[in-house]
Amino acid sequence: MQYKIGFCQFKPVFMDIKCNLERLNKLLCGVESDLLILPELAVSGYVFKDKKEVWRVAEDAIDGETVNFFRNLSRKNSTSYVVGFPEKAKNLSTSKQVVYNSCFLANPDGSYYVYRKTHLFNRETLFFEPGNSGLSVHTAKNGVKVGMMICFDWIFPETARTLVMRGAQIICHPSNLVLPWCQQAMITRSLENRVFTVTSNRVGKEINRDLEMSFTGQSQITDPQGKILRCLNDHEEGIRVVTVNPEEADNKMVTAYNHLLNDRRPDQYE
Ligand code: ACM
Repeated sequence: MQYKIGFCQFKPVFMDIKCNLERLNKLLCGVESDLLILPELAVSGYVFKDKKEVWRVAEDAIDGETVNFFRNLSRKNSTSYVVGFPEKAKNLSTSKQVVYNSCFLANPDGSYYVYRKTHLFNRETLFFEPGNSGLSVHTAKNGVKVGMMICFDWIFPETARTLVMRGAQIICHPSNLVLPWCQQAMITRSLENRVFTVTSNRVGKEINRDLEMSFTGQSQITDPQGKILRCLNDHEEGIRVVTVNPEEADNKMVTAYNHLLNDRRPDQYE
């Protein structure tokens, strides 16, 4: 199967959803891709000072502005999109309104899935509820099986491993990376799981009063052998797309005698 996967490395204007969606509309116009990944909190920005700010840009997963924009664009461009957004929702165990650091998969046939970040990073723990969606594999355009994880989930190898054990052929990884190690580590995540990964990172410096963060860019696509198929630099916005065969990720044989998943020894790991 020939399948075009890509990322959009982006620099959102902090808390200006309208402006960011207008810019993305232009950037994504005419891009030919089957599956395109955007960064974590792609349209809201990241450096929040307090919960109040997060609430101002948090969106409903069913009919939020960002969600609706991408669901429509998905039909129009015949592309599956994975996009990070701050999701407001009711925590069913406490009945309290909370915000999750989430991403959605929006498909051209109208199907739609949400993942809530499992491992919160640094000050995110002040604003966001730890994700409770679990790690599921969903179907993107043309039946391709994708798993979603968000940024800091990378440092817990169990995240990618779980998605692969559940059948993911491509791991979609919206990010706002600040530490220097992830891009290198994702080569290993790819190799140790024999899976495609797409890390879509943002660029630029974001300043909010006394808070400041710089994001590392270098978005990349890796294949099941850990080869980098496409990458971008650490400062420019841009889109990269590559054609792959997702079924390559179904072959878990490392040698004629070694199956990556069947050879695991969980009884020895405890
Ligand atoms: C991160 O999880 N945004 C580093």
